[in-house]
Amino acid sequence: MNSTMQDKENEKPPSSTPRPSPPWRVAVLANIKEHDRELPPDAPPDTGADYDYIETIDHIRGAIETDGHQTIFIQADRNLPFALQESRPDICFNIAEGLGGDAREALTPALLELLQIPYTGSRVLTNAISLDKTLTKRIWRDRRLPVAPFQEFTFNDEPLRPELIRHFPLFVKPAREGTGMGVDTRAIVNNETELRERVEYIIRMYNQPALVEVFLPGREFTVGVLGRRDAALYSRHPEWYEKDGSLRLPVLELDNSRSVTPSIYGLEAKAQSIGSEGAPGYLCPAPTDPELTRKLHHLAWRAHVVLGALDVSRTDIRLDAEGQPPPTEIYTLPGLTPDYSDLCLQTNAHGISYTDLILEILYLGASRWGMIEPRQAPSAPLKKRTEPLGGSEKADPGKPEALKLAAVTTG
Ligand SMILES: Nc1ncnc2c1ncn2[C@@H]1O[C@H](COP(=O)(O)OP(=O)(O)O)[C@@H](O)[C@H]1O
Ligand SMILES: [Mg+2]
Repeated sequence: MNSTMQDKENEKPPSSTPRPSPPWRVAVLANIKEHDRELPPDAPPDTGADYDYIETIDHIRGAIETDGHQTIFIQADRNLPFALQESRPDICFNIAEGLGGDAREALTPALLELLQIPYTGSRVLTNAISLDKTLTKRIWRDRRLPVAPFQEFTFNDEPLRPELIRHFPLFVKPAREGTGMGVDTRAIVNNETELRERVEYIIRMYNQPALVEVFLPGREFTVGVLGRRDAALYSRHPEWYEKDGSLRLPVLELDNSRSVTPSIYGLEAKAQSIGSEGAPGYLCPAPTDPELTRKLHHLAWRAHVVLGALDVSRTDIRLDAEGQPPPTEIYTLPGLTPDYSDLCLQTNAHGISYTDLILEILYLGASRWGMIEPRQAPSAPLKKRTEPLGGSEKADPGKPEALKLAAVTTG
């Protein structure tokens, strides 16, 4: 194999060959809340808060089965490697948050790459980075996204940078958690004494760095997106997508004023049933003017593309004191509980059924592994791309260029 061919081989997702055509055997991989697991004695009290209920898995399986596929559920625990080798699914629907370590959301994708089993959504590197809010912000800042000033503390005696000293109150949270873990009203610190206490608590309790940010006092939004550059070629609903391959879902606004943790959408607030006392207000579509809506959509799509996210993500954005909208974090494994998870509220508001959402994630994922024929092959040979994908971005790791897609699906 000459070096050009070798390069092309390396760019393909590592899929088993030959690639099966539908119907498939689909394994849903997740970590379940009540599953018996061995937690270390020093695990923080909210460990597992972002794990799924078994009912959510049943909903996902039900949606996938409506299109004729078979499904199984496999718990993403230490037995996963053996269970996968035994069952050899055609593709995995991955929502596993991971058991531990510094990149737990990347554990399952890494294993699937090793076993060469196709799977949905973002790949290893993106899932590892997106769990780490500091790294995510560094990458966004490098690509000129408007992130709020921040500093990460690995040790509590590191000096606070002058640009943050000027900005009290500050906000302190674990650098690598989700679902509001480690976030309550004490996350807002008004002076250096409170800051040191909170940083100490996060480092000790969560066994990871503390991320300190400027407090963002404004309205809070979360913005889901689906798609990728060639999504319309493979989607069952090509009409959903813009020219750039994005589907920008209606913006969801969290009204934190009525929440158990006023002004913060933390663990306690997220756990409340929608509409109950103490739950934040969920406004979707958010009552934003067209200019702000456009900005929020643009930022969420840029945040997704710049991080190399694939097919689905949700980005949190909170307005700063000047009314500007800095993104604060991205979820590449957004919750998928029907009528409850933020992304599902957004697809509901857009008139997309839960079944269509799940099948879309499955088919967009499968198409990246050569398991689906494109709707129409490009009519003329495409000009060799001189610009990387997405303008100045580097190519998404799991997204072959259209030219290569044609080769994959015909060869
Ligand atoms: N810099 C900040 N300023 C004000 N509130 C914040 C800031 N960062 C986070 N929050 C609040 O804390 C919540 C949880 O923080 P977030 O970074 O989104 O982590 P999680 O992954 O736990 O959702 C946010 O939804 C928001 O309400
Ligand atoms: Mg969040």
